[in-house]
Amino acid sequence: MTPHPLIAGNWKMNGLHASLAEVAKLGALYQPSLQAKIELLICPPATLLAGAHEITAAAKIALGGQNCHFLETGPHTGDISAWMLKDAGASYVIVGHSERRQSYQETDALVHAKALAALEAGIRPIICVGETAEQRQAGMALSVVEEQIKASIPAQASSKIVVAYEPVWAIGTGVTPTHAEIAEVHAHAREMLKRLLGPTFGDQIRLLYGGSVSPANAKEILKLANVDGALVGGASLKAQDFIAIAEAYL
Ligand code: 13P
Repeated sequence: MTPHPLIAGNWKMNGLHASLAEVAKLGALYQPSLQAKIELLICPPATLLAGAHEITAAAKIALGGQNCHFLETGPHTGDISAWMLKDAGASYVIVGHSERRQSYQETDALVHAKALAALEAGIRPIICVGETAEQRQAGMALSVVEEQIKASIPAQASSKIVVAYEPVWAIGTGVTPTHAEIAEVHAHAREMLKRLLGPTFGDQIRLLYGGSVSPANAKEILKLANVDGALVGGASLKAQDFIAIAEAYL
């Protein structure tokens, strides 16, 4: 059975203890009619995971981390393992976000190791891929995404994996690709996943679009073929906006 579409919120480095009120608001807005149609996930900063979990567990909202180490334990000051995220209540973790690929030189091989660690820990990795503006201008968008998918998805992948296409130039800019561009990359990504993992798993893996998704553009984007949800940054910080994006499915 194909899982529900996933609307995931990446809070990035935003949120203090007071922001848990926003999580509670989200819980109140996530009504059974919506629960029946879509899965809602928030990925707050690690400092808020335990506090958020007390709210999300009761509200049927999934919780995720924004990054993890590829090992379970050890001398890695400042790092957090997938097992620790799970222990704090997370059932997902974002790996390979372009902000980490760019700021911390994370490679596909490292993203692959992190995704594998997440699966071993029993949480679902959301593996991010996407081209830069320069790569798109050079006509390389499809080949960049293809390479990233090939190199960062573990071979033993199952339908537990989620892939997010986030063109770097669309993140936090208010600019989105055209619908044809999104559909083209998602169709190509789907083909790649089927080739790599076989038709069953390749079809079941949810392919999210991310990059300047807002209540205003969500409905049209989420209608596109092979778009199984969204990874939302800025618009996930306000419960009202985030739920409006999820309501595109109603
Ligand atoms: P914005 O929605 O703020 O563009 O961020 C997208 C993103 O990077 C989600 O991971």
